[in-house]
Amino acid sequence: MIKNKNIDRLKRKSSEARSSLMVFPNDTNDFGTMYGGRLIELMDMVGGICARRYTGTKAVTASIEDMQFYKPINKGDIIEITSRVIWTGTKSLIVKTKVTKEEYTEDKIVCSRAYFCFVAIDKEGIPVVVPELIVETIKDQKNYDIGQEIRKRQQMEEKRFQVELKENL
Ligand SMILES: CC(C)(COP(=O)(O)OP(=O)(O)OC[C@H]1O[C@@H](n2cnc3c(N)ncnc32)[C@H](O)[C@@H]1OP(=O)(O)O)[C@@H](O)C(=O)NCCC(=O)NCCS
Repeated sequence: MIKNKNIDRLKRKSSEARSSLMVFPNDTNDFGTMYGGRLIELMDMVGGICARRYTGTKAVTASIEDMQFYKPINKGDIIEITSRVIWTGTKSLIVKTKVTKEEYTEDKIVCSRAYFCFVAIDKEGIPVVVPELIVETIKDQKNYDIGQEIRKRQQMEEKRFQVELKENL
């Protein structure tokens, strides 16, 4: 009997991961604002926790799309990193990760945002099927549509990357 791979596929609501920290001098560049590479590292980590909670497997970062550094983060600011699964493919998923900062009021200002594409893998590093995302609200649907768009763009970029590799550009 031919088994339809979609029949047994789990469906799951989106999961979130969140982390807060205070920005110290060793997180900053020589202007005293937060170093971009450090911020990406933290976003990747929180996104990875979110992806693992959702898939229940290991998950590796396959690409980072549309990374925005919108507002500078200063030494002493409290930042909050929030990640949420917004789209799922078959073995991949897109996690939206946002960073907000608090200065000395409780107002949270959005500073950065990126879409991290993760691929679920087994113990041997082979990609495995992820649960299908349950879209419940209008906001979920809008984020899902963004994820779909990001995915299309990423696939076009992947094609270009393959040409670059082939032609040593
Ligand atoms: C990510 C990785 C596991 C994909 O392996 P692969 O053999 O190319 O996987 P497949 O061709 O079977 O594709 C599996 C899924 O990954 C997606 N994928 C593969 N490469 C991708 C990329 N560069 N960006 C986004 N998605 C990607 C595919 O589109 C596919 O998605 P789908 O099943 O939802 O349609 C592999 O490229 C890898 O190990 N890369 C290094 C990851 C890494 O070291 N990350 C940093 C540390 S965590």
